[in-house]
Amino acid sequence: MCGIVGYVGARSVVDVVIDGLRRLEYRGYDSAGVALVYQPEGADPYLAFDKKAGKLANLEAVLDGQDRSLEASCGIGHTRWATHGVPSDRNAHPHLSADGRIALIHNGIIENFGQLRAELEADGVEFLSDTDTEVAAHLLGREYAADGDLTEAMTRVCARLEGAFTLLAVAADDPDTVVGARRNSPLVVGLGDGEYFLASDVAAFIAYTTDAVELGQDQIVTISRESGITVRGFDGKPSEGKPFSVDWDIAAAEKGGFETFMRKEINEQPTAVADTLRGRIDETGQIVLDEVRMSDQDFRDIDKVFIIACGTSYHAGLVTKYAIEHWTRIPCEVELASEFRYRDPVLDRSTLVVAISQSGETMDTLMAVRHAKDQKARVLSISNTVGSTIPRESDAVLYTRAGIEVAVASTKAFLTQLAACYLVGLHLAQVRGIKYADEVSAVLDELVAAPGKIAKVIENLEPVREMARQCAALGTDRVLFIGRHVGYPVALEGALKLKELAYLHAEGFAAGELKHGPISLIEDGTPVIAIVPSPRGRSLLHDKIISNIQEVKARGAKVIAICEEGDRITAAHADFVFETPASPTLLSPLLTAVPLQEFAAELATALGRDIDQPRNLAKSVTVE
Ligand code: M6R
Repeated sequence: MCGIVGYVGARSVVDVVIDGLRRLEYRGYDSAGVALVYQPEGADPYLAFDKKAGKLANLEAVLDGQDRSLEASCGIGHTRWATHGVPSDRNAHPHLSADGRIALIHNGIIENFGQLRAELEADGVEFLSDTDTEVAAHLLGREYAADGDLTEAMTRVCARLEGAFTLLAVAADDPDTVVGARRNSPLVVGLGDGEYFLASDVAAFIAYTTDAVELGQDQIVTISRESGITVRGFDGKPSEGKPFSVDWDIAAAEKGGFETFMRKEINEQPTAVADTLRGRIDETGQIVLDEVRMSDQDFRDIDKVFIIACGTSYHAGLVTKYAIEHWTRIPCEVELASEFRYRDPVLDRSTLVVAISQSGETMDTLMAVRHAKDQKARVLSISNTVGSTIPRESDAVLYTRAGIEVAVASTKAFLTQLAACYLVGLHLAQVRGIKYADEVSAVLDELVAAPGKIAKVIENLEPVREMARQCAALGTDRVLFIGRHVGYPVALEGALKLKELAYLHAEGFAAGELKHGPISLIEDGTPVIAIVPSPRGRSLLHDKIISNIQEVKARGAKVIAICEEGDRITAAHADFVFETPASPTLLSPLLTAVPLQEFAAELATALGRDIDQPRNLAKSVTVE
């Protein structure tokens, strides 16, 4: 949610900043801006800025037309996902102080901005935007005017702000300094050779360095070619960040020959799932978590599990409920993180809260984690981002190893979350004493075999693409998804993918619920995608969904079935079948979700949508 970059060093500052913004554009793309400080020889330094509504390309077009004979010495850049004020040139960042000496960019929400704005307006300050950010720019300008020290000024300003924010600022008469501050919002430092970077995430600077520093909560960082990096707390006390090395390279953030990041990421799923499983099962067959600040006894004492997450991660949680309850017999509830803390859930020391978040920064999930911790519950997080806030605040962590996911629509993050969730379920079962020891070891074997099966699904997706193109050509305006058991969350995920990418009305239903209302949505030709469970094993489920297929067909639906290979019964009833390799029911979402991702991507592409950056969305949602 908003991408932020700062740079001080000998390279072309504008190139580094724009390059960083390009890699962070997935965080928000409704406007972009830069502020650059120049130090001409024999003249006073000065500040220049440009900002433009729309995608980064609009800003680049403006910058391309400018005289570049003088290089800036430091700068900041921002790509926005609007919270306060419509996407427009005037609301784009940076925002300037009243005297024009300070430029500031912001990610997050300043919750007390109304009160601060009223106070500043009463003092005669004229506001030029509708954003909450502008109050911070004016406050910083005033504080900076007092002593000309940007770091001290930022420290005093942060003491007045409430909410979640990452701020970066430069001053017109300080050509060697960028100051950043963070509270409840991400900011990392990149360390180069005599050059320093600040960014919302490491993707912005891995082209230049893999050495990074993680900042703690409520910290202020100053980067300068002359003095390097200094960190202090909001209380002014000197502090230190935590150094780490980024273990993926620039190639991982590029499209690698695919037309879009989403297509590349769909194709990376077999590797991503294999990487997530690799080394997680030790020589004795026990599952190993990454960071555990809980004893085995703590795990044994757990009598209830809550899973909290948002969007796609929530759907991974819904699948996990079936697995955890079956393998451990512990009651498990799944809740949208944004709702969790507002309904006063019953939590105590024997409750395990599993927080699932690809980014590890989703504000709704972070707040739910903090609420759970306040109530003394234990928190285990599943995240794709090492060092992000949610894992840092959790008692135990299992990282998915999907690598960077750039497309806004989650694909490989979802599959690796499922893989990690299965490991957590099995870990709980093992620590507590395995009830179904044979089944658990068989499931582990099947999990290890899953990447190969996912690869087989991906190789055979062309008929799904053809079906999607037909739907687009027919002017389909709605698609329904139905499933039972773990097929139900997969149906929800398929519908979410189609909504966010194609902007079509798409709904996922528990197949049995159709007859209680939604069946009235079906008209002649309405596509219904049915996630059909294996005809083996829990065949009762299979029979039931075949009945549901017949019900919708009787009302004119065109049924597209995702079923197990060799399922002749489904083939006889559906208009189109896509077969996936045989798999245990609980693990089947690893396979059945993939054709739905491809269906949404192809239908959206046929409709001319931007599938990497759908409208109104952002990859990392760091506001509540
Ligand atoms: O980073 P998180 O997993 O916490 O993100 C949660 C949702 O915002 C996310 O899963 C979103 O629904 C997907 N991008 C949709 O494809």
